[in-house]
Amino acid sequence: MTSKRKILVTSALPYANGPIHLGHLVEYVQTDIWVRFQKMQGHDCTYVCADDAHGTPIMLRAEAEGIAPEALIERMHKEHLADFHAFGVKFDNYHSTHSPENEALVRDIYLKLRKGGHITQRTIKQAYDPVKSLFLPDRFIKGECPRCGAKDQYGDSCEACGATYSPTDLKNPVSVLSGAKPVEKESEHYFFKLGDFADDLRTWLFPDITQPRHVQSEAANKLDEWFAAGLQDWDISRDAPYFGFKIPDAKDKYFYVWLDAPVGYMASFKNYCERKGINFDDYWRKDSDIELYHFIGKDILYFHALFWPAMLEGAGYRKPTAIYAHGFLTVNGQKMSKSRGTFITARTYLDHLNPEYLRYYYATKLNSTMEDIDLNLDDFVARVNSDLIGKYINIASRAAGFLTNHFEGVLSEAHYKGEFINRACTLAAMDAANEITAAYAQREYGKVLRAVMKAADHINQYFDKHKPWELARNPAHSQKLHDVCSDCIHAFYVLTIYLSPILPSLSEGVAGLFNISRKLAWNDLSFSPLKMNNYEHLMTRIEPKRIEAMLEASKETATMKTATPTPSAGESSDAITIDDFARIDLRIARIVKAEDVEGAEKLLKLTLDIGEEKPRTVFAGIKSAYQPADLEGRLTVMVANLAPRKMKFGLSEGMVLAAGPGGKDLWILEPHAGAQPGMRVK
Ligand code: 2FM
Ligand code: ZN
Repeated sequence: MTSKRKILVTSALPYANGPIHLGHLVEYVQTDIWVRFQKMQGHDCTYVCADDAHGTPIMLRAEAEGIAPEALIERMHKEHLADFHAFGVKFDNYHSTHSPENEALVRDIYLKLRKGGHITQRTIKQAYDPVKSLFLPDRFIKGECPRCGAKDQYGDSCEACGATYSPTDLKNPVSVLSGAKPVEKESEHYFFKLGDFADDLRTWLFPDITQPRHVQSEAANKLDEWFAAGLQDWDISRDAPYFGFKIPDAKDKYFYVWLDAPVGYMASFKNYCERKGINFDDYWRKDSDIELYHFIGKDILYFHALFWPAMLEGAGYRKPTAIYAHGFLTVNGQKMSKSRGTFITARTYLDHLNPEYLRYYYATKLNSTMEDIDLNLDDFVARVNSDLIGKYINIASRAAGFLTNHFEGVLSEAHYKGEFINRACTLAAMDAANEITAAYAQREYGKVLRAVMKAADHINQYFDKHKPWELARNPAHSQKLHDVCSDCIHAFYVLTIYLSPILPSLSEGVAGLFNISRKLAWNDLSFSPLKMNNYEHLMTRIEPKRIEAMLEASKETATMKTATPTPSAGESSDAITIDDFARIDLRIARIVKAEDVEGAEKLLKLTLDIGEEKPRTVFAGIKSAYQPADLEGRLTVMVANLAPRKMKFGLSEGMVLAAGPGGKDLWILEPHAGAQPGMRVK
């Protein structure tokens, strides 16, 4: 083995204003697999991350919930950690950008940049919400596209025609927070002079052929375009009110969230070093030869490949060894969508499916490029069932019984003598080692799994060829039976070692079968297990109905969310006119009947009388808060002209109104006494 390397790895820090979803998990799974692989190789590899806790959307979300931002980020921190833990994403440290370590480091970096002359100030005009008394980030302004006229476009770009522009170019702009027309207001801002680092960045990003590359070639091409457009000063300040760190020697100015976010990588590591007695400076000083890798999505390349290395350079720190960008996730070939139920949170997934199915499927799709990856749900079921279960798990479920029933689980003599290396079946598995090692190192997990499945095919063929079920009938063939099954089980053990970075929990289960009570390491390939405990099912097939249920639950969560008044970036509603409001036909409804729905965890089926000939059926996501019997006979308010929606359980012909964050805290609306079913609410 090569000598022990020191490696520090990060994944992008998730914002503290929303749950982890399957899109996020592409990156955490990708990074976690890589880190686990390096650890299994015996390297000293540390994986840190944190919540990205600052910024306007977080401040506003806390305000909408009526809590302090600190309380919101604390709750999110717990939720995020629980999700990561459940998916086997194992950070050595998970911190927060709202931490004393980060504040001190941000200050240190800023002051060094200022001392170096890389900070400048000037007054700029910016959109301001006169009702909320707040400068508006681009995403909080909507209006008509200046190019194609499409309505309801954000302040930075048009989703209809792809134009990019500044919010002042929008026609009929409104603040998504208050509906007010934004006004222009002047304010002094602080800027980081990125251009000061143009030469340094160019050398770093486009090294000559003899030097190592720090970004993928696709990323370098993209960066080349940005260079050609010129490196502008970067606006790093935001005015109060803002949730973030104050800029030293400035009145009521805060660091923009994107300035302190990447520093959060250092801060999380610093917090770890302090607890573990590790020398932080060894990792971050300018001449450090310790490896540093940032895994990110391609959308935040600009921050990581330009601003961040420039900040590090300007403040006298080392730059990353490499930045590894991946593509976006699509589900069934399309952007994740709440109405299709494909905006799936980590939690909803976990309510229905084993997290290692997803780790496996993502790994089949992951490679070292920035291409998008698709979670095709039919393919997901097929690949897990036919390959992971049908090929790999199948080896153990076929061979283990013979070994434990006929030989007390003890492997045959060749394995004791270390002669296993020469045996055909084990060879099929062992031969793949180099290819798999190289593929992991290059983040080519799809290749890893192709090699593993090819070996699994060989092993299954070997098993079929020797027909152990026939050998078992004749005591004269006992030795043969013993050898064949031992070989298969040994090969299964080898494949398990290969799969460990991808399927850590399964790997632990298999290690347990062989009485190994620690994590498997790469050099366990040099040994054969000698004895196996009774085999129990390690993993079962995916039942397609679980997928259906997950999609349905995601739709339910999305539906419930529309009843929750929680504005966050991009989700807030525009101001509407009275005519717009009049288009919604709200009616008093009597709940004639309320029933549980078989197979739906969150829904109740309501039969509603709104004075029409026939009552309406509505499926409402309120089961967590109400017993059906408590609802019958009561009045509520329903949207009567909502397009009917076909659900798995039947047609839903409207929607009842409810408020609250969800779970037990959900309350349906009820009119004062006197209102009658069918009355219009206006
Ligand atoms: O894009 C995002 O979700 C950011 N929260 C990522 C920050 S990564 C790093 F720079 F902190
Ligand atoms: Zn447009």
